[in-house]
Amino acid sequence: MELINNPTLDEIKKAAKALNDGHLVAFPTETVYGLGADATNEEAVSRIYSVKGRPKDHPLIVHISSINQLSNWARDIPEYAIKLAKEFWPGPMTLIIKRSDLAKDFITGGQDNVGLRVPNQPVALALLSEFESLGGLGIAAPSANRFGAVSPTSSNDVVDELGEYFQSEDLILNGGSCSVGIESTIINCLGDSPSILRPGAITHEMISSALGNEKLNAIRSGNIRASGNLDKHYSPKAKILINNYPKKGEGLIALDSVETPEGVERLLAPANLEEYAVGLYEALRLGDKLNLLVINIYAPENNDLGVAIIDRIRKSSGQLNAN
Ligand code: TXA
Ligand code: MG
Repeated sequence: MELINNPTLDEIKKAAKALNDGHLVAFPTETVYGLGADATNEEAVSRIYSVKGRPKDHPLIVHISSINQLSNWARDIPEYAIKLAKEFWPGPMTLIIKRSDLAKDFITGGQDNVGLRVPNQPVALALLSEFESLGGLGIAAPSANRFGAVSPTSSNDVVDELGEYFQSEDLILNGGSCSVGIESTIINCLGDSPSILRPGAITHEMISSALGNEKLNAIRSGNIRASGNLDKHYSPKAKILINNYPKKGEGLIALDSVETPEGVERLLAPANLEEYAVGLYEALRLGDKLNLLVINIYAPENNDLGVAIIDRIRKSSGQLNAN
């Protein structure tokens, strides 16, 4: 595996060729780092599953360079999905739409729908466009972490998570740290109205205002497969306690208005929700590096980006229904 820092256009072309040749390329997006493979190459995609240690029936998001590629991968696209794509792509939003013949079972986990996203990160967009100029149609990419672990927000995290599982011709592109810091909003576009399957930086409020009168169903769908819906996910090694007063020797993640009690290891003190999302996963990783047994997290308010942050905090603690 080769790590390329601040890739030049020539190095991005080399990465596009590596994808085309069936190798894996980890790359930055604005949300988290992705582990990419040619989405039409079954063998390359199967390596994603083995490198991540992820069950085969968990579908992958296909990354495309623009809304123009949408109809390659999807069919029966609802009007509201086009509206959302026009409004929020490139950006931290994944749309689940009925699949075209191009989206094979090895991408969709055998479901008749596919997740699609145009990321908003310069290295990712350049990689997608160079890959397309070689005839590529899309890059399948889950978060570049072992199954169930915390998503990576820097190339160092990718090396820590997956370094030992890569092969010599696989690449990691270092495009700096991620500007959003938590995974994309996933929106189910299979029904008459959309529903949010995984909250993210494209918030319920933003989606509702983009769609005007159209009804947005915020309820999680129970029968659609998304590994983010497993009870324990995005988990560090430390035990996570939510809204619990920290004891000496424990870690604390909370907005900067909360003071750090004496003897407590402060892992993150964000000034606002955006900073909270950007720093959350790095703070969880730091807690593990410091071998903390317990990390206490004060949840932010449950609106706007706070909804997604609380979702990830609950998943990291294994207490999806905690308050
Ligand atoms: O921000 C993100 O979405 C990042 C970056 C790399 O784009 N990707 C990401 O992928 O978080 P992953 O695989 O770690 O999480 C995507 C989630 C998984 O829980 C997967 O099961 C679900 O989306 N998913 C993908 N395609 C789906 C589909 N067709 N139907 C239902 N869920 C789907
Ligand atoms: Mg993931």
